[in-house]
Amino acid sequence: MNESIRRALSTVIDPELRLPITELGMVGQAEIIDGVAQAVIKLTVVGCPAANRIEADVVAALAGISGVTETAVTMTVMSAEERAELKDKLRAGKPIRSNPFDKDTLTRVFLIGSGKGGVGKSSITANLAVALAAQGKRVGLIDADIFGFSIPGQLGLGAAGDTVKPTRIDDLILPPVAYDVKVISIGMFLDGNKPVAWRGPMLHRAVEQFLLDVHWGDLDFLLVDLPPGTGDIAISLGQLLPTAKTIVVTTPQMAAAEVAERSGSVGLQTGQKVFGVIENMAWLELADGTKMELFGTGGGQEVANRLSTLQGSPVSVLGQVPISVPLREGSDAGKPVVAETPNDPAASAIERIANLMAADQLGLAGKKLKLSV
Ligand SMILES: Nc1ncnc2c1ncn2[C@@H]1O[C@H](COP(=O)(O)OP(=O)(O)OP(=O)(O)O)[C@@H](O)[C@H]1O
Ligand SMILES: [Mg+2]
Repeated sequence: MNESIRRALSTVIDPELRLPITELGMVGQAEIIDGVAQAVIKLTVVGCPAANRIEADVVAALAGISGVTETAVTMTVMSAEERAELKDKLRAGKPIRSNPFDKDTLTRVFLIGSGKGGVGKSSITANLAVALAAQGKRVGLIDADIFGFSIPGQLGLGAAGDTVKPTRIDDLILPPVAYDVKVISIGMFLDGNKPVAWRGPMLHRAVEQFLLDVHWGDLDFLLVDLPPGTGDIAISLGQLLPTAKTIVVTTPQMAAAEVAERSGSVGLQTGQKVFGVIENMAWLELADGTKMELFGTGGGQEVANRLSTLQGSPVSVLGQVPISVPLREGSDAGKPVVAETPNDPAASAIERIANLMAADQLGLAGKKLKLSV
């Protein structure tokens, strides 16, 4: 392969693996003969959903080489050996099924929980992930709400029963990407919209698989949307994600605040610090600019106060997110408000919370620095 063709093809990024195709061993024979740029591209798996996009990007890259008048691209599939080589490279020498988010991780991990359902935890989590990714951070999002998963729908990755399926390279699972966020949800592994009726050990295995068998690559942030309440999943995750910090979402209602406190305190029992509290649906702004406090006031501060006492160090309210029609419509349509309507007050509030998360420092003292491709 000559230098100009190699350089052109190195600009083509595999949308799932987020690396140049030249580094992934996806380029076979490639040459320019009499102005015709020819290239053989080897996909990781048959029926790779990114095939069309990769082919179009390759054609565009080749056509941009000076002196090229025609392109001829052949799409094939890697052999088993080539795939094995790629998997080794992706694992970057780490043992098979090692936990990339153990105590030495450089990824900032946040578990987002709530005491009760329907407080907007998933909407907030999806928007926080998109806001961080828009700042150029590498972000992963796990929908650990096994029974009521909703993250794929909120990010345009298909509604329940018809969710985008992750590509697999043998036993390695590639998380689908939406708004630059790598997303994994139990909904992606189910046939149709059947309810999940799993118990403790199966739940633990599912969550473990999300962490161990998914190729996350190097992440700056991992956000986890917990199921509402306290339970097996939160405890499993607490063990698997020792550096995680908890964020508790509540509404301003005092009754909601009481339940929310319990979800934060489970994290404290499994050793996670509480990063802060988000008060969602804080008010509705009326046409004349007045704020109508539909669900009362003070819930967020109340949870923060109680968790401060339990934790023995200050827990603050990270932000108040108002009731917002664009936020609700965006969640329903798979178009997160922070990306689609950034001027909306709820979007700005979420943006400010994302900034606080981005500013949070990992204690790096005594940590090994990891290097990988
Ligand atoms: N600030 C807000 N303004 C308007 N609607 C909101 C707001 N936050 C959330 N919603 C809407 O409330 C509903 C519940 O939100 P969401 O699914 O995010 O909550 P949840 O806490 O994850 O619920 P579940 O317990 O079902 O997982 C959704 O329809 C969502 O669009
Ligand atoms: Mg939810």
